[in-house]
Amino acid sequence: MVTRARENLGPEAWDYLIGGADTESSVRRNRHGLESWVFRPRILNDVSEVDVTTELLGTPLRIPVMLPPIGSVQLFEAGGGESVARAAAEFGVLQTLSSVCLPDFETVAERVPGPRVYQLYLMGDQGWMDDIIARAVDAGYTGFCLTADTQTYSRRERDILKGFVPPSGTRVDNADFGAQARMTWETVAHIKEAFDIPLYVKGVNVAEDARRCVEAGVDVIWVSNHGGRQLDHTRACIDALPEVVAAVDGRAPVIVDGGFLRGADVVKGLCLGADVVSMGRLEGLAMAAGGKDGVIRALELIEQEIRISMALLGISRLTDLNPGLMERTRPFGTSHVLSAFPLLDEGY
Ligand SMILES: Cc1cc2nc3c(=O)[nH]c(=O)nc-3n(C[C@H](O)[C@H](O)[C@H](O)COP(=O)(O)O)c2cc1C
Repeated sequence: MVTRARENLGPEAWDYLIGGADTESSVRRNRHGLESWVFRPRILNDVSEVDVTTELLGTPLRIPVMLPPIGSVQLFEAGGGESVARAAAEFGVLQTLSSVCLPDFETVAERVPGPRVYQLYLMGDQGWMDDIIARAVDAGYTGFCLTADTQTYSRRERDILKGFVPPSGTRVDNADFGAQARMTWETVAHIKEAFDIPLYVKGVNVAEDARRCVEAGVDVIWVSNHGGRQLDHTRACIDALPEVVAAVDGRAPVIVDGGFLRGADVVKGLCLGADVVSMGRLEGLAMAAGGKDGVIRALELIEQEIRISMALLGISRLTDLNPGLMERTRPFGTSHVLSAFPLLDEGY
């Protein structure tokens, strides 16, 4: 799929998907973090029936995986957010639709019934935001997501060197993105007070902010460094996860993303306390390889891998995954954005 995706995409779209901010250390660290954990499998448990289904705020999920917001996803396959919506609905996972992709959120909702979460970048004042949230509620969205790690746009040097500007845009110094920079905890309090829709805050990295989210009534805490595309030199998200999980202390579901590309990666996130793992580049690669069907196939492979990892760990229920099933080690290779697929280096 990765090979097919690369063949199908021009260098601009490929680098936009794969790249990150500045030195791309946050991108590499996400993989390095995941590759720094190994399993401590348990034996002789009956794993003839492994259940990988779960739910998030009452929405049933066939696997504990979420398809996160991908701006300009129409670059990877023309159907864009609608193709992802169809894949999510057909397979049985939740999609978060980005506000900076096509088709727009109302068209997607009309064509593909939810449940679905809508992620908004603020490009106007509070009245503008309120109007969009009200329309998202009317359109049937079952969650609203504020991305809090993008108060300014980062330097993506792959794009800069090629003069590439994704359709979603990159400018941060204009009036539109000014609203994103002015977003504060008051924005969160206002949304909670004015709207009756579950609020996801995406981009949580430390315990203090996680605690503050819970105190503000945020419904879902989303640990993310934007796939290493925003602040450079962050911790791997898998390493930020435990302190966030401890701070949240079961008061809200926790999503994690950043470098997760395999079923075993998902299992690692769940062992450390995440309820759901989101997979961004997997979504983009699968879209580029085969649109809606590509995304469904990728999710099937992830499902199979989760099932196999769990069975070989001696675990048959997601709720039995726990930190005792893992320990830290030193990765043996060089971690990079695609190091989850070592056979690529051997020319497969
Ligand atoms: C091409 C691309 C576009 C993205 N666009 C958005 C976006 O519009 N809104 C947002 O909140 N996150 C966006 N993200 C971040 C993802 O939602 C997610 O946090 C990230 O991809 C997870 O890391 P991973 O790619 O290593 O799985 C984007 C990520 C990629 C790769």
